[in-house]
Parts: sequence; structure tokens; C-alpha cells
Amino acid sequence: MLRWRGHDGSVDHCVEHRQDLQDPVAASRPSLGSPMLTAAEDDSRLAEKLVEALYRPDGSRALRPVHALGIGATGTFVASRIASDFCVAEHFSGEPITTTVRFSNGSGCATAHDGWSDVRGMATRFHLADAAATDLVAMTLPEFFTATPEAFLDFAAAARPAPYKGESVWRKLRALLRLELPLRNPYPGETISPDSGAIAFADVHPNARLAVFGAAAIGAPLSYVRASYHAVHTFVVTGKDGTRRHVRFSWQPIAGVANTNKSETPVDSYLLAELRTRLEKGSDRFSLVMTIGETGDAFDDPTRPWPPHRVRIVMGTMTIEAVADDQAEASERLSFNPWLLVHGMEASDDPVLRVRKEAYKISSARRGGAPCPFAGG
Ligand code: HEM
Repeated sequence: MLRWRGHDGSVDHCVEHRQDLQDPVAASRPSLGSPMLTAAEDDSRLAEKLVEALYRPDGSRALRPVHALGIGATGTFVASRIASDFCVAEHFSGEPITTTVRFSNGSGCATAHDGWSDVRGMATRFHLADAAATDLVAMTLPEFFTATPEAFLDFAAAARPAPYKGESVWRKLRALLRLELPLRNPYPGETISPDSGAIAFADVHPNARLAVFGAAAIGAPLSYVRASYHAVHTFVVTGKDGTRRHVRFSWQPIAGVANTNKSETPVDSYLLAELRTRLEKGSDRFSLVMTIGETGDAFDDPTRPWPPHRVRIVMGTMTIEAVADDQAEASERLSFNPWLLVHGMEASDDPVLRVRKEAYKISSARRGGAPCPFAGG
């Protein structure tokens, strides 16, 4: 058996895609799994279970179950000259677009542990004409843990934080001799962790390993603007000439990617103050890179990377200008949804992306957030 000795992760690639996820006609009729429920109702029930499963014992019901702690910033996005050739969505027109960005730690823990190795989030709202908006929700892992939301529910159960002890020197040595990754030592103050469960899940779900290994090695960024963020799923964009393309989006920091020194004792709280100080001195920028998929690439499976030589287009640059004055509005209460899309951009058939529409709506209502864009519908 292959053993991973690291952090988070999941997915069972052998899970067959349900027919009703791919067939729009099937999606509107009673689902096969639950004869009395429509596929939308199935999604809603699954999303409820997912949100519940994601809460950590050291989290807070008043916060998000994941990405609980963050900071809101304001910025401006300007599309590149060629962006609208590939996507006719309003934010790629070239006009300056005001943005609200929430950077976050990935954990649902209600106490800041900025220096711990963790996935980070960057959720962006593009404010469009006539009070319209579109969201791009991204994180520092390029792949997700599971190919289906059902498998993610299993993963969330397996990776529920449990007491964490690390390993003795002898067990670490034994792991190295067996070409395994030794478990890291607990951070100061760390008592529970999802690691052991996540690793056990990855042991038996091969598709989980890329994300698990990625999360194990990811470390802590020097700054929220010194990390790359990926929207992970495939989206479908329509260009000026009507061509539809399957694409994936990433934010690349102009300042470059840089982590803290992992041999030093991690600092619990620095990311918010660092961003404030940095932005008081001047703005920071990210490029929005769009990778174009080709036939044979995984369009509906967020666990599978695409070949590295795919065509990439720089769609624009976002300047992060300031930490938002009202953190309650620009961070705590704000509710993003990866389904908040505009003409020119569509969701792919990825079943994980599909269920996120409901999950974010439910979570935002539970924590008393600003109404999710899909609240009430
Ligand atoms: C089935 C899969 C997933 C589920 C059930 C899920 C669930 C959630 C929930 C419940 C929240 C809190 C929403 C709120 O209260 O406003 C959240 C936030 C977040 N998720 Fe996911 N998620 C999933 C997949 C992903 C993926 C693939 C990404 C990477 C692109 C991602 C990135 C984020 C980020 C960055 C946030 C913080 C957004 C903010 O700042 O408000 N999630 N997720």
C-alpha cells in the first residue's frame, strides 16, 4: 500500500459520474438516487451535509466553516488588450473594474495560526455596471481533493480534526527508510489536526494524493499577496467570434511567490498586519492567467491537472489598493458564490462545482452573512 505522510486530501476517482449531473434534461426530472427528489433538491441536501461536516470543533458557527479568518481589500481589475477576444464577459472589456477581494486562511479554526502550513483563499468580486457582479473564488492548491461532492463528504468525515501527536525520531527514521514522508511535529499549541484522517483517506483514494501532497508541502505565505491562487474548476468562456473554450483561471502575484522559513517557529498572527502595512506603502498586483484546455483534458474533474504546455492567456491585471475600511462588510458578512457568473462565462459539468452553489448559499445563511447572490432562488 502506498502511504502518504503529510496533510489534507481526498477523492475516489472510481466513483462513476451520475447520469443526471451531465444531462440537463435528467437534471430537471426526479433523481434516480432519491425517487421523490429532483436533482436540485438532492444537491441541497448534500450541500447541507457538506456544510455541517466541514465545521471544526475549534471553529465558530458565527464564522465560515472553512476559510474562517480573512481580510477584505479593495482593488481594480483591468483586462488585457486580447482578453475580450477570448471572453466577452463584461469584466474583460478593458474598462477598469472595481473589485472586493477577501484573502483567507483555509482552516475553519476560529483562532489565527497564520504561520501553520495551510491552504489560503482569494475570493474576488468584480463590481459591474447596474449593480451586477461576478465572483472568482480561488485557493492556493491547483487541484481539489475529490472528483465528486459525495466523495468530498466522505473525505470531510475522514479528515475530521483528531488529536495530533506527530512521531518519535525513530518512527520518522523508519518512514524515511521506507520512502515515506514522516509526519511533521505538532506546531506550538496544536492539539488537533485533520492530517491523519486525510492521509488515511488518500491511502485508499489515489486521486486524493495530488491535493493531499500539495497541502502537506504548501507552507505559509510571507504575505497574502505572495501566493498563487487557482479557481481549480473548469469554466466555459465565449470569445468575440462565438468560439467556446474550456478554461481554468489562476492569479499570479507580480511580487512573486514566497513562503516563511519552515525551520523557524511559526508566528500565529502576521498576515493581516502585513497586508495593512504593505498596502499603506503602495499597491500590489496580480495577473489573471487563463489556461485553455484541449480535447482529452479533464473538464469535469478538479482532481486532475492539465498538461503543463497548454496555451495560457494573460486576461488582465488586478491592483490591490487598500485594506477595506469596513471589514464587517468587505470580509465577515460578504458572501461569495462561484456560480455568480455573467454572460460570456459558464460553469462546466464539474459535479463539485455544481454543489458549491448550494453549499455557499446555505453556509452564508447559517452564519448570518450578507445574502448570498442565490439566496431565495
Ligand atoms: C464540494 C466542494 C466544496 C465545498 C462543499 C465548499 C464549501 C465551502 C463553504 C461552505 C464555504 C463558506 C462559504 C460562506 O460561508 O460564505 C467555503 C468558502 C471558500 N471556499 Fe469552498 N468548498 C468547496 C470547494 C472549494 C474549491 C474547489 C475551492 C477552490 C477554488 C474553494 C475555495 C473556497 C474559498 C477561497 C472560500 C472562502 C470564500 C470567502 O472568502 O468568502 N472551495 N467553501
